[in-house]
Parts: sequence; C-alpha cells; structure tokens
Amino acid sequence: MVQPSTDRVTVCYLQELKKQKQKISALTAYDYPTARLLDEAGVDIILVGDSLGMVVLGYETTLPVTMDDMIHHTRAVTRARKRAMVIGDMPYLSFHLSLKDSIQNAARFIKEGGADGVKLEGASPARLQLVEALVEAEIPVMGHVGLTPQSVRKIGGFRVQGKEEEQAEAIFRGALALEKAGAFSVVLESVPTELAAEITAALKIPTIGIGAGPHCDGQILVVNDLLGLTADYLPRFVKKYADLAGVISAAVQNYIADVRNGCYPGEEHCYHLKKENSGLARKVGRKVLAGKRQVRN
Ligand code: KIV
Repeated sequence: MVQPSTDRVTVCYLQELKKQKQKISALTAYDYPTARLLDEAGVDIILVGDSLGMVVLGYETTLPVTMDDMIHHTRAVTRARKRAMVIGDMPYLSFHLSLKDSIQNAARFIKEGGADGVKLEGASPARLQLVEALVEAEIPVMGHVGLTPQSVRKIGGFRVQGKEEEQAEAIFRGALALEKAGAFSVVLESVPTELAAEITAALKIPTIGIGAGPHCDGQILVVNDLLGLTADYLPRFVKKYADLAGVISAAVQNYIADVRNGCYPGEEHCYHLKKENSGLARKVGRKVLAGKRQVRN
C-alpha cells in the first residue's frame, strides 16, 4: 500500500500507484479557490482542461480556447496547489502547426504557467512525433484518446468511441503508441468499459478514465459537473456529488430579498465612528456641502 504522500505528486509516484493497484484521483480546475480546495482535499492530479472553454467561458465547444486563456488559468491553479500534479491542456491549434511552435507552446505551460506537464489529444503519427520531442525537451506528457473533444467537428458530436472493431483497434493502438513515444499516462475518454480494461492491462503507464468504466488506473471528471454547477445536459458517466447551483441560487435569492427589505446589512456588518467622534460625519458633510455651494456662487 502506497501511503498518500504529502510531497508533490510526481510521475514516479503515479507509476507506483499503478504498480500497487491503487487508484489515482484527478479533477479539472480553472481557478485559485477551486484548485486550493481540491489540493487540500488530496486529489492527485489537477488538469487545467480546455473544457474551460465550455464550463467557464461559455463557448459551445473547446475549439475557441487560446493559449493565453490556458496560461492565465493555469497560473491561478498553480498558485493554489501544494501537493497535486498540475497538467495544462494544450488547446486546439496550439500543437497542430509546426513542431517548433508546439514545443514552445507546451513550454509556456511549464515556464509561465508553473505546470508539471501537458496533455494533448490524439495519437496520429504527427502527435506521436510531438510527444517524443516534448519528452526530449523534459516536458511530461499525458496522452488522450477515445473521444477527443477537439475533433468534435470530425467525429460529428460528443459520442462514445470504440464500439466497433476498427475504431476500438485504433484507440488501443493509439494508447500503446503514446506509451512508446514516452507519455507518462493516457486519458481514455468515453470508451466502452471492456476496451478500457484491456488497454489498462496492456499499458505500463496509468490510464485515467472519463466515461471509460472502473478498470482504469484512475478517474477524472470536470469539477463543475461533479459539483452540480453545470446547467446543461450531463453525460451518463458523471456522478453529481453536490448541487452547488442550487446552493448558490438560494444564497443569491436570499441576499436579494435581504437587500430589498433592508435586512442586510445588519448591525453586525457595520463600522461605526468612536463615540467621542460621533459628530464627525455631520461636520464633514456640512463642510463639503458648504464648499460646493461656494464654488457654485
Ligand atoms: O478538457 C478537459 O477537461 C479534459 C478532461 C475531460 C479529460 O480533457
């Protein structure tokens, strides 16, 4: 049994968890207060996902998210964490053009964002070459196969991948190739449980599942989904652990009512002048208003 360490989570620690068949917990976060709570609760990996675009910035897909958006939010997250490994998600078109630009973008997550590694979607030959180059540049890489949301236009929607043999084989081969290229773990998103189990057994590196069943080495969820902050449809794999949307709505409605009927602020929320100075406000008021009158005349 590996004791949960209080030291920063490392690639070696995650490999050890896999060896010892202990599960890895991962969640997304995009801001300082959430990252602090997740870190204090003991989550192993915080992913600054490009899901940022959909759950925080209000886009319909992750495609509009920019490198600057990602670095801004990664910095907020790394300021908060003490123990968790922080991974920055490379947004659409930040790793598709040239190898040099892709390495430079990945390095921004490390140098400017303070992240411990990057995640990138896909396992095409060009992606695998990039993974090798990033590892060569000392940047730990998390792969991502199955449903890759940046390919939503090509896939034609957010749907389960790998139900048919050809697609299942491509996902399996992709995961193996990512391991060979040097990735330290791989996300399996929206794939059948049985396929994820076979891939997990075949890989030495940990698999992190989202909609991929219980046999993966770890699990990841979008934190807003888990906390009940997502207004839209939730995929079947999400377990809602809280209803923060309900809590926030009730709190804000109570606040509005209190303001309207004069119950807030109460005496306990007020600052007062010292007793011996109690005439000061009136004195200042008279002085200022008299000055104004003089200017007008
Ligand atoms: O962007 C994201 O949040 C992700 C996770 C869902 C794995 O890629």
